[in-house]
Amino acid sequence: MKADRRQISTARGVALVRAIEMTRPEADRASSDPYAHRFVNPLTVQFMRVVGALGINRLTGIDGLMNFAMAREQHIAAVMVRELRAGAEQIVVLGAGFDTRCYRLPEAAAVPVFEVDHPVTQAAKREALRGVVEPLPAHVRFVGVDFDHDDLGERLRAAGYDEGKRTLFVWQGVIVYLTRDGADRTLAFIAGHSASGSVVVFDSIDSAALTGSGATGLRVFTSAMGENVTFGIGLDEIVPWLAARGFGDVDIFGHAAMQRAYLGRRPIAAGVYIATARVA
Ligand SMILES: C[S@@+](CC[C@H](N)C(=O)[O-])C[C@H]1O[C@@H](n2cnc3c(N)ncnc32)[C@H](O)[C@@H]1O
Repeated sequence: MKADRRQISTARGVALVRAIEMTRPEADRASSDPYAHRFVNPLTVQFMRVVGALGINRLTGIDGLMNFAMAREQHIAAVMVRELRAGAEQIVVLGAGFDTRCYRLPEAAAVPVFEVDHPVTQAAKREALRGVVEPLPAHVRFVGVDFDHDDLGERLRAAGYDEGKRTLFVWQGVIVYLTRDGADRTLAFIAGHSASGSVVVFDSIDSAALTGSGATGLRVFTSAMGENVTFGIGLDEIVPWLAARGFGDVDIFGHAAMQRAYLGRRPIAAGVYIATARVA
């Protein structure tokens, strides 16, 4: 994927879903982000609420994807807290976009956090948080990387990343936009340049859900967010796929479990899942 203004719009798209979630009564939210509104136009939030009230999101299947994004937010936050309590010594957030969980989770304040993204997206993030989260927390370091051109390891090391440390890699909302080669390169970096016991958590979609009429909502949703989903890994191949790349202890949190844990009666898109795997 290319990083330009179009890519910022994918970061903004996720922030928009978070901001819409914040308009629900607190007890009905799957996830909360008090900074989400800083990254979006309030009129767009209102417009999307009207669209939702007219039932359009339900008809197109967009509801299920927005709900997934919010369950994902909460589940990955839970993985972050669990791994930090279990001894993770640093966090790398790949394609961090406008995610601010590492500013808000008390557990994350104790370790260095490397937020990796395109410098253009990072500049927009700083600008949106000016006067709100300023200065940025001292444990957070911005690592400007263009995944298409730059060497991730080189940039991380220059920012103080220590490959001898047990690391948590958070890769949320990114892998579905990559090529298989692009995903392979990042997994090879993680497996080859972090301490044993390091963990990667990412969301993906069963490749079977990328085709056919069920995928209409996905296409509408992701192209409205700025980029098309191109890459899914079949639920039947994900465990061997990760094992072949140096990962074990794979946990797949599927859409039905996600629904039960975070969404109650709110629908969720079929085929989405969150994978957590440990460097062997
Ligand atoms: C869908 S957003 C996900 C953002 C964040 N993880 C979240 O869940 O809110 C994808 C992110 O990847 C970044 N990105 C896309 N192409 C990139 C590239 N070539 N180099 C660096 N970052 C890129 C975008 O700037 C954006 O922040």
